[in-house]
Amino acid sequence: MASRLAILLGASTVLALASQSPIIESQNGPNEESARQRAPQIFNALHSSVRQWGSSLYHNGMSFLPATIPANTDFYHGNPDNKPVTGMEWLAFEIEHAEGFARGRFGRGPGGGPHGPGGPPPKDEEPLSELRRRDEVTEATTPALHHYRTAHDMRVLYLDGMSAGKTTMGTLDQQEFVLCDGDRTGPGGGPPDAKFAADMCRDFGHVIEGVVRMEAGFEVIACNFSTSLHFISATARPPSDVPEYNHNQLREFEFVRGIGQRYHGIAAGRVQVDYSNIVSAFFYDMNLTNPDPAHASLPRFSSSDPKILKDIKSAVLSVLSNPSSTPSIDWQGVVDLIVTRYSDRLQFMALPSTTHSILLSELNFLLNLFIDYPITDSTIPTAISRCTTSYISGLSLSTHTDHLLYTAVSTVKSTICHTLFSIRSSLLDSNTFNTLKSAKDQINSLTKYLGWTTWLECGKCAYDEVCMVAMWPLGGVKEHEHPSCVSREDVSSKTGYWEGGPGGGRPGSRRPGEGRDER
Ligand SMILES: *[C@@H]1O[C@H](CO)[C@@H](O)[C@H](O)[C@H]1NC(C)=O
Ligand SMILES: *[C@@H]1O[C@H](CO)[C@@H](O)[C@H](O)[C@H]1NC(C)=O
Repeated sequence: MASRLAILLGASTVLALASQSPIIESQNGPNEESARQRAPQIFNALHSSVRQWGSSLYHNGMSFLPATIPANTDFYHGNPDNKPVTGMEWLAFEIEHAEGFARGRFGRGPGGGPHGPGGPPPKDEEPLSELRRRDEVTEATTPALHHYRTAHDMRVLYLDGMSAGKTTMGTLDQQEFVLCDGDRTGPGGGPPDAKFAADMCRDFGHVIEGVVRMEAGFEVIACNFSTSLHFISATARPPSDVPEYNHNQLREFEFVRGIGQRYHGIAAGRVQVDYSNIVSAFFYDMNLTNPDPAHASLPRFSSSDPKILKDIKSAVLSVLSNPSSTPSIDWQGVVDLIVTRYSDRLQFMALPSTTHSILLSELNFLLNLFIDYPITDSTIPTAISRCTTSYISGLSLSTHTDHLLYTAVSTVKSTICHTLFSIRSSLLDSNTFNTLKSAKDQINSLTKYLGWTTWLECGKCAYDEVCMVAMWPLGGVKEHEHPSCVSREDVSSKTGYWEGGPGGGRPGSRRPGEGRDER
C-alpha cells in the first residue's frame, strides 16, 4: 500500500508528505535506516536538548527543533544604554549571562550584539557589524541591565549543540551550511554572527519570532523586540569611580556557577520543544564526517552534499510553517527514564571490584522483570523483546518523525537488552575469570556505543568550587574531556579548548564576565 501510494504520488509529493505520514519514505529524505545507524547520536541529541551539560560535550548540533517560549518568561539583556531596545537583538535566559554586557567600556558597548549576550565583547580593533555601527551613533552612556518579558507565547527555532559558540570546530555548522548559505563573513568583514541572525530572521521571520542558541548560557535572538517583548526595567550599573561599588572578584566564578545551574535543564519550562517535529541530519543518509581526525566523534556538515543541506533547510521551513496541533511526545522524558535506569548500573557492573556473583545479581535485578520463568526455548527471545520495548511500547506515535525517533530509541534499547541478556547467559554457564572479564569488556563496549554524557558528570562540588565543562569561550581540553570541580581561584585559568576565535587561549582573548580591569 505504502509503495503503491508513493508511485502514484510521485517523488516530490512524497517528500512533501514525509513529515506527516508514518509510512511513506523517500530515498534521500529522512529514513529509518539512517535513524537505526545513528541511533546513539539521536538518543543523545534528545537527552542533551536544552541542557547546558550534554550540549557542551556534544557541541556540534545537527538538529533543528521547533519550540515555544511561553508568555511572561523573563529575559535579561546587558546594554551600554538604558533605553528600551527595539528591532533585533540578543537576550539571555540567565542574569549572570547578561550582566557581562551591562557596561560601557567600549563606548558603543556590547549589548549582546554580534557576539551574543555572553560572548566576549569585541576587541577594540575588531571590525563591528553594520548593526552595531548603527547603534554606535546613539550616545550610549548609561550601561544598564535590562529586564524584558515575553508578550505572548513566542514561536522559536532552537538550534542544538553549542550553536552560539563562535568557533571553527563545527559549532556554527547549522547556520553556516544549512540556514545561512555558507558565508562566514559579516558586513564589513566582521564576525558572521550578526549576519547569521539577520539571515535567519529574514528567511524564517514570517513563521518564528526568534532563534534559541547556546554558548556558555542559553540565549534568544529576538527578531523584533517591539512585537515579542515587554520592557520591564533597566537598572544602571554602579559608577566605576566608586571603588566600594565595584568589588568584583567573583565575576567569572559566579558566571560559571550560574550557567552550571542549567547543566541538566533550563528550568521552569522556559523552552518547550516540539520533539515530534524535530528536523535532524541524523535522519538523513549523508556524510557527517569531521575532516579533523582529532574530533572524529563530533559530526560536521562540511563534507555533506549541498543538495541534502538544502532539503534540510526546506524541511525546517516546512515544520515551522505547519505548527503541530497535537502535543509532542515528551521524547526527552522517555530517554531520561532509560538513562536513569541504566547509567549508574552499567558503570557499576564494569567496576574491577564487581564479582561474578554481584554482576549476576545486578543482571537479575535489571532483567527478571522481563523473564516469565521457568525458562523454555522461547522465554529469552520474548524477554529481550519486552526489554527492548519497555518505556516506549505505550507511546502513541503520530508524525513520521515520531516513527524515526522510535526507531532510534528502540535500537539503543535493543543493543542494551541484547548485551545484558548475552552476558547473563554466559555468566550462568561459566564462573571463570575469563567469562567475567569478557562480560565487563562487553559492558565497556556498550557504554562506548551509548556515549552518555552522564558518565562525565562531576558529582556535587564544594561550595567554593564549580563543576566546569568547556563551554564556549571557557574551558581547556581537560574541561572538555574530563570535566571536574574547579576552585574559585582557578576558573579563569581554564582556557584553550575552543578553536578559531576567542576562547582558544590566545593571549588577550576575553571571556564572559571579564570586562574592565579589576583594579
Ligand atoms: C517591529 O515591530 C514593530 C511593532 O509591531 C513594527 O512597527 C516594526 O516595523 C517592526 N520592525 C521590523 C524591523 O520589522
Ligand atoms: C565523507 O567525508 C570525509 C571527510 O571529508 C571524507 O574523507 C570521506 O571520503 C567522505 N565519505 C564519503 C562516503 O563520501
